[in-house]
Order: sequence, then C-alpha cells, then structure tokens
Amino acid sequence: MSDWVGFCGGEDRLLLCAALRSVDPRAALEFVGSADALRRSLLEAAPTELGALVGPAVNGVSSVNLAAAIARDGNARSVVLVERGVTGSLRSRAARAGVDVVLDLESVGAASDGGRPAAPAAPARGPASVEGPRAPVVVFCSGRGGVGKTSVVATAAAHAASWGLEVCALDLDLACGNLFSCFGLPGGSDLARIGAASDLSCGVVDSLRASVCPGLSVMGPCGLPEASELASVRAGELISTLSTLCDLVLVDTSPTFTDAVAQAAQLADRLVIVSDGGPGTPAALARTSGLAVRLGVARTRIARLENRANPRERANLALCRAEVGLETARVFRAFEGGFEAEDLLASGRALDLVESGSPFSESVATALAQMLEELGSLPDVDQARRAAQGAAGRRRFGLLGKRREAR
Ligand SMILES: Nc1ncnc2c1ncn2[C@@H]1O[C@H](COP(=O)(O)OP(=O)(O)OP(=O)(O)O)[C@@H](O)[C@H]1O
Ligand SMILES: [Mg+2]
Repeated sequence: MSDWVGFCGGEDRLLLCAALRSVDPRAALEFVGSADALRRSLLEAAPTELGALVGPAVNGVSSVNLAAAIARDGNARSVVLVERGVTGSLRSRAARAGVDVVLDLESVGAASDGGRPAAPAAPARGPASVEGPRAPVVVFCSGRGGVGKTSVVATAAAHAASWGLEVCALDLDLACGNLFSCFGLPGGSDLARIGAASDLSCGVVDSLRASVCPGLSVMGPCGLPEASELASVRAGELISTLSTLCDLVLVDTSPTFTDAVAQAAQLADRLVIVSDGGPGTPAALARTSGLAVRLGVARTRIARLENRANPRERANLALCRAEVGLETARVFRAFEGGFEAEDLLASGRALDLVESGSPFSESVATALAQMLEELGSLPDVDQARRAAQGAAGRRRFGLLGKRREAR
C-alpha cells in the first residue's frame, strides 16, 4: 500500500509526483481515477495511514473543495493541495479548511524543468516567500518541562557550527524560552516582529538572527510573553525561510505542544522527543508521539532522545514499543553531564561545554551526527565523521579551528 493517494488530470501526474517529493522525499504515491475514489480510499484506510494529494481541478471538480472535504473527513494523515498560480486567498481558504500544505504547480514545474530541486513546501497558512534547497530541520520536543531540550539544542548547535555548518538555533518556547542564555547573550531576538512583517522575506528573517559566533546564530523567543500569539501563527513560514538561509535549523520548543510547535513538527525532517527517565516519562512520550502522529508527522521522521542517560546502561527500548508512533523510532542517548554541564550552560558557556569533551557534549554530538548522516547531510569533516561513529573524543581544536578545517 502506498503512503499517499492522489487525484489529478493524467497530464499533471509527473509534476504532481515532483511536487509531493518536495514535501516528502520518500513518498510512495498511487493515483486514483476520480474525486470519489480518492475520498473512498482515504476513508477505507486506517486513520492517518495515507496522505492525500489533490491536483488541479479536473472535470469541474474544485480542487480546494475536494481537499477541504478530505480534511473534514478527518482520516488522511495530511492533505496536500497542488494548484496552478496559487494566490494568497487560495492559501488562506485552504488553511481555514484544514488543508496542511498548498503547493504551486508552476514553481514546481519551473524547478524540475531546470533540474533544480523543487521549491520548499509552503505551509497553507502563508505565502511561500522563498525558493531553493532546504536545510535539514531538526525539532526537539517533549511532553514535560525540564527534560533538557534547551541544553541539547544549544550543545548540538555549537557542535554543528564547529563542523563548519551555518546553523541557526530557533527558540519556539515563545513565551518563556531561554536558549539565548546558554550562549551568554543578554537576550534573544524578538520573534513578535514576524507577526507585524508583511512578508517573511529572507532579509526579514535574516535580520532576526542573533549571532553567537561565526556560523552560529540564535533566534527567538518573543520579547514579551503576551506577544507570543503574534509569532506563533507564522512559525512554519519562518522555518521554511530559515531553512533556505542555513545549513541546519535546530528548533527548541516549549514543554506544551503549542500551535507554533505543531507547525515546526510538521516541517521537521526529524522530530526528536526528549525524555529524561523521570517518573512521567511513559505518559509524556505517549502524549507527544500520539499528537505528532495525529498531526501527520511520518513515523519515520520521529526519533527519541534519552537525556541524562547512564553510559553503563542500555537504552530503554521498551518505551518505544508501547507508544503510538514510536514503534520504529530510532533511540539516541545524551549522557548525564553532572554539575559541569549544568554550570557551563547556566553561565552561558555552551561553546566551552563543547570544547570540554564532557560525556554529555560528546553524546549530543554523536546523536546529531547520526541524524545528519541519516538525512544525507553529515558534513565531510573528520570531527563530524568521528562523532557519527560515536567516537568524537576530546576536541583538539577550537571552534574556529574546526570551521577552518571544514573550508
Ligand atoms: N544531560 C544533562 N546533564 C546534566 N544536566 C542537564 C542535562 N540535561 C539538562 N540538564 C540540566 O537540567 C536543567 C533543565 O534543562 P533544560 O532547561 O535544558 O530543559 P528544558 O527541557 O529545556 O526545560 P523547559 O521545558 O523548561 O524549557 C538545566 O539546569 C540543565 O542544565
Ligand atoms: Mg527549555
């Protein structure tokens, strides 16, 4: 059985396949011959088993109405609408109807004609502002607070920069985020500004990146907690643009699954659920993975990270078997870093933590390198390759030295 089922006129099928690949590179797509057959196959499948792909109108069937009806039926894993000459009003109509993604067939066609990758998927809630290849987006979430998301994101971002990547760490804990403090910055960049921007062009998004060191920037949260609603609605759009400006986007999130976190999860190449083995771990994993699956996140994109793990113990794979969506999830581990890790992060010295070669830092490097390897994006530098093998060892060069090595 294919992962996606689609309907369009025969002449558009190839272009539709290309469009779908810009959203899900590993998609398997099967076409059916009518709008009715499309709805029927989705209704007959298990909930969220299939994604729906609706192409340009055929025989008077309005594509947006068909996509809206499928979204209303509620059984599709996600609904993607592909049309020609997509307008802002079509996007907002589709967004209101619960359609997940709207793609413009004209830009897909132009991209595939030139042999370039297709434009990034634009979330239904806003116009696409950019075109071009997308950097991997890795989102760290949890169903509980204090499990180490921010510590892991800060440490992973510092490692990625040391491997020569241009990385942006985005803080979507919009009301209370403190990612910037791990790097000793006095404050974050105020994401409430994206609420006021008429379009999220590369220039606007770039201006929101607060530089930590060459190759590493931080973005967010909101200056005032009450302004977080303003930024929240455009989080997906922000990530889409950001991913064309960097080599890697790492997203820190709030303990609760807000609208912003949901948008990030849907765009994530890897959605990493972080846990720390505390008493609420199984319930938090079940809640978070179940929600991710209901949001349409492909199971193959969900991973789990056991933080504060003991290197002498094995990963708890039983937790995966029990939870919705985690059956196939890869398990990574970040080791307990003790007082040293806590102290360095609390005093804004995440870069020093990465230099320290602590078990926490090195295990985060390994987790990140292995994820990038799976995504085909591991940088071709010795330190990254060694990290992927779980043998990063102590760093012998400073951050800038590593960046030089990468060039
Ligand atoms: N592996 C670890 N070893 C030692 N200390 C850790 C480790 N992971 C996290 N900590 C510490 O635990 C505390 C909570 O971590 P952190 O703020 O990263 O969690 P969080 O999931 O981002 O929390 P919140 O949900 O409130 O945003 C911090 O003091 C951090 O330094
Ligand atoms: Mg945090």
